[in-house]
Amino acid sequence: MLVIEGITKSFIQRGIVLDKLELSVKEGDSIAVTGSSGSGKTTLMNIIGLLDKPDSGDLFFRGKSILTFTPDESALYRNRNIGFIFQDNLLLPHLTVEENIMLPLFAARISEDEYKEKRKYADLLMEKTGIKGLYGKYPFQISGGEAQRVTLVRALINKPSLLLADEPTGSLDAKNAMLLGELLTSLNNETGTAMIVATHSSDLAAKMKVHLRLENGRLIP
Ligand SMILES: Nc1ncnc2c1ncn2[C@@H]1O[C@H](COP(=O)(O)OP(=O)(O)OP(=O)(O)O)[C@@H](O)[C@H]1O
Ligand SMILES: [Mg+2]
Repeated sequence: MLVIEGITKSFIQRGIVLDKLELSVKEGDSIAVTGSSGSGKTTLMNIIGLLDKPDSGDLFFRGKSILTFTPDESALYRNRNIGFIFQDNLLLPHLTVEENIMLPLFAARISEDEYKEKRKYADLLMEKTGIKGLYGKYPFQISGGEAQRVTLVRALINKPSLLLADEPTGSLDAKNAMLLGELLTSLNNETGTAMIVATHSSDLAAKMKVHLRLENGRLIP
């Protein structure tokens, strides 16, 4: 599904973060990436989501090199294939929970029937994540953990083939962290959604089929 061939990324102030990193993700894989703070997990996620570019190396999605995509092609790739949960969950403050969740749909110009179907799917996901009833609230009216679950629902609304989750349990208490881990596992098992989960939690990492560590710019088993 996704093949990363020797990507390198440096930042001027920091030096080399990713060093000829290799990764191969098969359809339906679930991969945990752990590693100390600053090891490059978020940098890697951003590169896979085409939010940032590596200095060298190549990136293939379903056989196609994606680093040469135009901005429009990148947006389409993200909208069709990728679901994002960001480390600092990015809900737009002036939109309600419902509007935040349905936001990725507006980019895709869908029909009214499709919208209704997606809305039903959102209801189901809201129920599964235990945040039913938050639709009309604004981000400042909900807790950090609730906001993180809203971003999960938003990430899944387009049924992505690859979910990129950056520290998705960071602001959850133990019980909700466990629930979210179980939700990710059942999503992977039931729908075959592939996922890469960057996390400091060994409990969450243990729920993924593959566990890799980002160290000195490379992923090691
Ligand atoms: N846009 C940027 N400009 C300069 N340096 C950056 C930038 N983004 C990341 N870095 C640096 O690159 C290194 C890797 O950062 P990254 O956010 O990928 O780490 P991480 O593994 O996600 O850490 P954490 O576990 O704390 O989330 C850090 O030293 C960071 O300061
Ligand atoms: Mg990070």
